Amino acid sequence: MGLGILLMPEVRRQGLGVRVLEFAKQYAFAIRGFHRLWLQTLDDNIGMQKLALAAGFVHERDERQSWLVHGVFHDRKCYSILGTEYRLPAP
Ligand SMILES: CC(C)(COP(=O)(O)OP(=O)(O)OC[C@H]1O[C@@H](n2cnc3c(N)ncnc32)[C@H](O)[C@@H]1OP(=O)(O)O)[C@@H](O)C(=O)NCCC(=O)NCCS
Repeated sequence: MGLGILLMPEVRRQGLGVRVLEFAKQYAFAIRGFHRLWLQTLDDNIGMQKLALAAGFVHERDERQSWLVHGVFHDRKCYSILGTEYRLPAP
């Protein structure tokens, strides 16, 4: 199962990204019983890197120059969260 996230610029930095990832975690762990979620982003995507950490994902590795974007190789930053690390949000 894959999930992409793209918010219009005018609604960024308002906490929506955290809420989207919270929904994804709740669906994956509380409803589907998955063991692990992972995400990847480019080394220059500071917003996604900050969002991953804010949503409780752990930075686990960088894959050096493994992502070719418009002719330029980028590092791929990899994050994950385990079901055992997930807590249901307070009601
Ligand atoms: C990446 C994206 C989904 C983030 O969503 P968002 O709703 O703006 O993020 P949030 O408001 O939930 O912010 C979460 C945290 O990240 C930080 N953050 C988000 N964007 C940031 C940026 N551009 N620079 C620095 N920090 C940023 C916030 O300050 C917040 O940190 P805090 O908890 O310490 O306050 C959004 O910027 C986006 O859609 N970008 C374009 C598409 C994209 O890059 N998708 C990901 C592809 S891998």
